Amino acid sequence: MTTIDAPRSPYTAPAPAKRRRVNWEKWGWLYMRLSGVVLVVLIFGHLFVNLFLGTGVRAIDFAFVAGKWASPFWQVWDVLMLWLALIHGGNGMRTVINDYAHGRLRPVLLGLVAAAVVVLVVLGTLVLTTFDPCPAGAPANLVPDFCSAISK
Ligand code: HEM
Repeated sequence: MTTIDAPRSPYTAPAPAKRRRVNWEKWGWLYMRLSGVVLVVLIFGHLFVNLFLGTGVRAIDFAFVAGKWASPFWQVWDVLMLWLALIHGGNGMRTVINDYAHGRLRPVLLGLVAAAVVVLVVLGTLVLTTFDPCPAGAPANLVPDFCSAISK
């Protein structure tokens, strides 16, 4: 049976059969803004704690870093800063390369940036998650105080 639309009802064209694809450019654009907001907190928090609190920049040595990374809070903070900043910087460089590089140079530069991001993310994450704050045989004055408690 054929149904006839009521008079003056709007015409709706049949939807074209098209595949819905992920709009990566949109998600990349959004990622730059959202990671930027989180990075402001992470980077300025990092600078404030490392360079301003206590005796400031003079406090930074192996023991200072080892002491910080003994805490899961700072491990998560630094891993987040590493991942968000490197992906942000890599995606930003992708935009710059797409704007200025032409021909065969473009895929070469994009590949180099992607490789640098992957290598630095993997290396940085490994350092952060496998770091030994009390290396065997290290002089006691160069390692955090809690190392002497562990070795006793
Ligand atoms: C304080 C934290 C940061 C904020 C708020 C921030 C914010 C932003 C925003 C909103 C954009 C997009 C600009 C546009 O599309 O026109 C951008 C682009 C970019 N960001 Fe960041 N960013 C921060 C940290 C960083 C860091 C740590 C790096 C390096 C690792 C970096 C590297 C880049 C690059 C290379 C671009 C592309 C520049 C361009 O399109 O001309 N940013 N940033």
